[in-house]
Amino acid sequence: MRIIKLHDLYFKPFILKEELAQIVKMLVKQVKADLPEGEVPLFVGILNGCFLFAADFIREFDDNCEISFVKLASYEGIKSKANVKQLVGINEDLSGRTVIILEDIIDTGATLQEIYNIFRDKDVKELKVATLFFKPDVFKKELPIDYIGKSIEDKFIVGYGLDYNGLGRNKSEIYQLTIKPKMKNIVLFGPPGVGKGTQADLLKEKYNLIHISTGDVFRYNIKNKTELGLLAKTYMNDGNLVPDEVTINMLKKEVEKNIDSNGFIFDGFPRTESQAIALDTFLAEKGEKINGMVALEVPESLLIERLLERGLTSGRADDTDVKKIRNRFNEYNTKTAILKGFYQEKGNYYGIDGVGSIKDVNNSLSEVFDTL
Ligand code: IMP
Ligand code: MG
Repeated sequence: MRIIKLHDLYFKPFILKEELAQIVKMLVKQVKADLPEGEVPLFVGILNGCFLFAADFIREFDDNCEISFVKLASYEGIKSKANVKQLVGINEDLSGRTVIILEDIIDTGATLQEIYNIFRDKDVKELKVATLFFKPDVFKKELPIDYIGKSIEDKFIVGYGLDYNGLGRNKSEIYQLTIKPKMKNIVLFGPPGVGKGTQADLLKEKYNLIHISTGDVFRYNIKNKTELGLLAKTYMNDGNLVPDEVTINMLKKEVEKNIDSNGFIFDGFPRTESQAIALDTFLAEKGEKINGMVALEVPESLLIERLLERGLTSGRADDTDVKKIRNRFNEYNTKTAILKGFYQEKGNYYGIDGVGSIKDVNNSLSEVFDTL
């Protein structure tokens, strides 16, 4: 299911193209059935919302007809305004005509009432109303609505001509207002060289997440000689962890930059319990949380092999020296593995066998990601 964001609000798919086409077809059939033989109706579309509906309607109608549009705005944002103001557009002589108003949606009925009154005074032969959507729970008028495409609950919708503050009209399907989707925030965990980066790249594509690799963030900052970068450099080259405060501030910045995303894969962070607590606090402020820690588990001997191999091409100072590598494992084992307990206590820890092909490991990870 694809959720869209318009301005500050989120909308989920509600009525698909095929159903819309069916509704229009059904409406046309009913309208035609009531028209006297040879009658050329004048359809009057209420702009702006009806333009797609009206276009599809008259094409489906196919027989001789005229179409004209009037404009009458009653909505600002998602709330109906009590009184409707101006009508622009009708110049035709309407006397003796069969006029059929085409509305996109009738909500309180205020808009329609206004228009109805104007047309009633124009000496028409017959005045009818066809609306694509109707909200029976909020309709307050006594007006006859001759043709209703679909009655819907009182929830704001957009698409197929309907808008939210100007946006959404060009969608070919109808979307309904929904709550902001929760993020999927996952800590990808495991010792150096376990393949976190590779897997994170695959997972971020698949789940449309932002991958925040502490290592990448640091290397970027170091390369660009930022203040935090220069500070971090001294620690990293020795295979030590960068102090929490520096790390947390860098990571917060990355999260803030992508606060509208589906979620994050944290890779290389948190590494200490105090980082984990800081992250929880930070996410809680946003109404979000860590959905789970997913840990890749691989035997240490295999990892050392992998790291030395990577050091040959990566040029990373901390990848070339066995002593430095062991130092990183020590760091990992003494400090970071504590996190396993931290997340386990919350029932949030998921261990995954990291030995195997990239695809196999990815499949195992996906099985867990799907549930988080
Ligand atoms: P009413 O005057 O309250 O019946 O509102 C009618 C007009 O309000 C429609 O022609 C639309 O322009 C707008 N409107 C009502 N409900 C919705 C909705 O759910 N989405 C988008 N526009 C709406
Ligand atoms: Mg309208």
